[in-house]
Amino acid sequence: MSIPFIDLAAQQRRIKPAIDAAIQRVLAHGAYVMGPEVKALEAELAAFCGAKLALSCANGTDALALPLMAWGVGAGDAVFCPSFTFTATAEVVPWVGAEPVFVDILPDTYNLDPVKLEAAIAAVKAEGRLTPKVIVAVDLFGQPADYPAIAAVAQKHGLKLIADSAQGFGCTLNGAHPIRWADAVTTSFFPAKPLGCYGDGGAVLTDDAELWDAMDSLRIHGKAQPRDLEGRTFDHDPKYMNTRIGMNSRLDTLQAAILLEKLKVFPEEIDLRQAAADRYAEGLKGVVKTPAVIEGGRSVWAQYTIEHDDPDALVAKLRTVGVPTARYYPIPMHQQAPYAHFPQPGGLPVSEAASLRVLSLPMHADLTPEVQATVIEAVRAGV
Ligand SMILES: Cc1ncc(COP(=O)(O)O)c(C=O)c1O
Repeated sequence: MSIPFIDLAAQQRRIKPAIDAAIQRVLAHGAYVMGPEVKALEAELAAFCGAKLALSCANGTDALALPLMAWGVGAGDAVFCPSFTFTATAEVVPWVGAEPVFVDILPDTYNLDPVKLEAAIAAVKAEGRLTPKVIVAVDLFGQPADYPAIAAVAQKHGLKLIADSAQGFGCTLNGAHPIRWADAVTTSFFPAKPLGCYGDGGAVLTDDAELWDAMDSLRIHGKAQPRDLEGRTFDHDPKYMNTRIGMNSRLDTLQAAILLEKLKVFPEEIDLRQAAADRYAEGLKGVVKTPAVIEGGRSVWAQYTIEHDDPDALVAKLRTVGVPTARYYPIPMHQQAPYAHFPQPGGLPVSEAASLRVLSLPMHADLTPEVQATVIEAVRAGV
């Protein structure tokens, strides 16, 4: 029996007729770019998270870049973010000419440590070379960061807050989605994400209509918006008047159509992921360090990540019995060559220790108790 790490085929079997019909509708109307499903999806995404607005785009990386571009973040600005994350969180910062400032994480949740965040902001201010502008918190492995504490720090220092919820779309803290605290929440629809499409895709959620407007312009080459044209006459397609330097970052209509169907089953899938996480926690209790979720938090379990003194050895043993694993993330960003020169005030000992210990087990909504029993047995035998 081969065990998949993420079983997209099983999910597709469950919803195939609806997906097929949605694809056929797009083929019939032919509006492949910015078609009606794109607008419909944006409305559904916003409603799902309790945000006023949603803006779809080409991927979760562009989703992070768009608010930075819209806010005019650039040279001389500091953007505070974790180092124990996927590259994209930090990558977009030098894109706009600013510098990522790496902040350490909490050892149990792997999410931004609000105390270390405050200390990093103080260190950057004391040095005086960079101006603090934005905090990017990450909902790593699917669970919400400590938003009440992080938002309080952002407010105190007058910084914007982005929630990078590429792994956490759908997660809540005390019943609220991250948009309750963040100026912008970004997500990715990469196929392996909890809410994934059949290619690349992303979105930004916000309550700020002016930010939405600027990002809508930026995702289509900086096209003029109605508010840019106030008091002017331009008797042509507004996309041929460019009021910003933008990019081409639209979500394909086909992907929006697929996501509309996937969103319908997403709440049920979150419950199924939680049930799978509960079974792992029960089966691995006392065997390895299992994940801890922030008090009041509900994870969407993008990953089920355990710790081990020698994770590479355990990965190799599990491979021999057909159990796939992944190491997220073996090298924190501040130790990656292109990022090593960016500020890391106070050091990042917790991130460094985590990267040496973590490994993730198969996790998806279609994981059966029988398959999980095999995985649990293999981990028990392998530690
Ligand atoms: C935390 C985080 N941020 C951003 C991204 C970027 O998303 P995308 O791959 O859609 O560009 C990812 C994707 O893996 C991610 O895990």
